Amino acid sequence: MSKENSRFSWENPLATLDTVTVTFEGEPFEVPAGISVAAALLGHTDEHFCHSAAEDDERAPYCLMGVCFECLVEIDGVQNRQACLEPVFDGMQVKRQRKVGDEEQ
Ligand code: FES
Repeated sequence: MSKENSRFSWENPLATLDTVTVTFEGEPFEVPAGISVAAALLGHTDEHFCHSAAEDDERAPYCLMGVCFECLVEIDGVQNRQACLEPVFDGMQVKRQRKVGDEEQ
């Protein structure tokens, strides 16, 4: 079947989306609107962006569907947000999850 006769869109669907600006640890970057915070961060940085709350171990998203809680981050000042379940919004401020007992920075 040729592309011309196919019902499938061969264009990159993300290329047609609007973009929003998200800030991670003070560094702004653009991502397609509508993707999750986890997807945005996975595409933006090679660094870990989660810590376990109790032990400060480095964590990373695993299930990407709200089950494992390995993707917790701080979003707009609120801790313990699941990055895989939160869609990005323009101006969103995302930070690494702080260990329990750490002072706010
Ligand atoms: S990646 Fe598993 S809950 Fe977010």
